[in-house]
Amino acid sequence: MPAKIIDGKALSLSIREQMKSEAERFETTFGRKVGLAVIKVGANPASEVYVRNKIKACEDVGVRSFSYNLPEEIAESDVMDLIDELNANESVDGILVQLPLPKTINEKKVLARILPEKDADGFHTLNAGGLMLGLPCTKPCTPAGIIELIKSTGVAIAGKNVVVIGRSNIVGKPVAMLLLSENATVTICHSRTVDLKSHTLNADILVVAVGIKEFVTGDMVKDGAVVIDVGMNRADGKLYGDVNYPEAVEKASFITPVPGGVGPMTVTMLIKNTIESAFRCKEN
Ligand code: GUN
Repeated sequence: MPAKIIDGKALSLSIREQMKSEAERFETTFGRKVGLAVIKVGANPASEVYVRNKIKACEDVGVRSFSYNLPEEIAESDVMDLIDELNANESVDGILVQLPLPKTINEKKVLARILPEKDADGFHTLNAGGLMLGLPCTKPCTPAGIIELIKSTGVAIAGKNVVVIGRSNIVGKPVAMLLLSENATVTICHSRTVDLKSHTLNADILVVAVGIKEFVTGDMVKDGAVVIDVGMNRADGKLYGDVNYPEAVEKASFITPVPGGVGPMTVTMLIKNTIESAFRCKEN
């Protein structure tokens, strides 16, 4: 029997409904909307789409967005000045700098400049460290969305063998930490892993975040596995995941489609982080 589809779009919409009322509650209590600043530098085509989706989601939920489209050749110091200004702006609860940045700008320095309490993406060292230590922190959006998607299947995470393919700071490493805190047995595989298939065939839950079109083929998927495909690979005018969907759907019990799986959840978690930051800042 083919896998059940994990509908990230539907799950996103239902979470956004709850967030709408949270955003409204913030506005009635504190007399202003929750605010998210979105900074994009240059004109990366993928970033254009992601940023547009993030701003649209703000509008849908009733969060005010402050959008900055900065030119490719902007000086790093000007980006830092803008972040300082937004850190001090009381109408801004969350700040996000869309990655990747142009090579002339030091990504680590820019991300470190955002106040940890306004770090909507959870990329600041203090938030990354908090995740590692199990302290309260803002969690990165794609990993947090992946956990929600897995939980929506009703399949328990505790005790399961989970294989994560990919070790990026944005997805692979943080999702592994979140899965570990859900009591999974987690293996992180990457480009230097020897005999990848021997690992993936042992995975009750397989999370793929490598950025290579249809990298995981059906023969690499354990029968009945839950497959989460984080890939967004554009080719011949279409979007492809990191998993060969037609093959994997015949092996898995649940699978996320591309598009309509992880992508919408990433955006939803960003808005959730921003609303939570807004309340935290007022209540502390
Ligand atoms: N680039 C790719 N994914 C992300 C993300 O989740 N947040 C930001 N800021 N940039 C990204």
